[in-house]
Amino acid sequence: MARRMVAGNWKMNMVADSAKELVRSLSVADAPCGVDIVLFPPLIWLRELMSEAGDGGLYFGGQDCHEADFGAFTGDISARMLSVAGCSHVIVGHSERRKFHGEGDARVLAKARAALEHGLIPIVCIGESLENRERGETFEHLGRQLDAGLVPLGDDLTRVIVAYEPLWAIGTGRTATPEQAQEVHEFLRGRLHAAAPDQDVQDFPILYGGSVKPANAAFLMEQPDIDGFLVGGASLEFESFWAIIKAAGVDG
Ligand code: PGA
Repeated sequence: MARRMVAGNWKMNMVADSAKELVRSLSVADAPCGVDIVLFPPLIWLRELMSEAGDGGLYFGGQDCHEADFGAFTGDISARMLSVAGCSHVIVGHSERRKFHGEGDARVLAKARAALEHGLIPIVCIGESLENRERGETFEHLGRQLDAGLVPLGDDLTRVIVAYEPLWAIGTGRTATPEQAQEVHEFLRGRLHAAAPDQDVQDFPILYGGSVKPANAAFLMEQPDIDGFLVGGASLEFESFWAIIKAAGVDG
């Protein structure tokens, strides 16, 4: 991918004042060229944060979406609504949605399709559990998630961002080694290209997520198939998030 990306998934964290302060710091800081910064705040703060960001070059997205445009779905927000609200991206299939809201690959595919239909870039999360990994089933598991949740998108796969987030690395402080992450990213890139062979193999952006920190970001970024990061905990403070963004810059 020509550009790199660092996405900050704030999850259910931050209240308005601290969120605004962080956005202000990010919007005035001098981002390394070639890196897109996308924030996924709690939606209740979205408008305020967008106006705080001004034309500071930040992108905003939703942490999830519903695939229907409207309807009796209490608590949900549709891809269409996110798009109208000015979002450019949406995370779908995050492991916390899969675990706490029972979302499976078919649902993830429907959400990704809805996002594309409304001009949003879906960031589709996949990842294996510790059990999968210890049993040597990492690639089998990821292959299943790809086949059911992504491959049906065909040529649209170049309009999607895949985030590899091993479940055992999310919020645990235990990161995949650069070699482990590279091995998986290379596998994913190959499978995505096989599903859309007319596209350039480099046109399938793949982010790594799971305990990305300033201390490991540069090593991960050296891997040829890692195009950026989806960051949780370390995106909540300017210093740590900014160090990761700089590590993602072309010059590191
Ligand atoms: P983490 O979360 O960086 O806190 O591990 C990543 C994620 O859940 O996207």
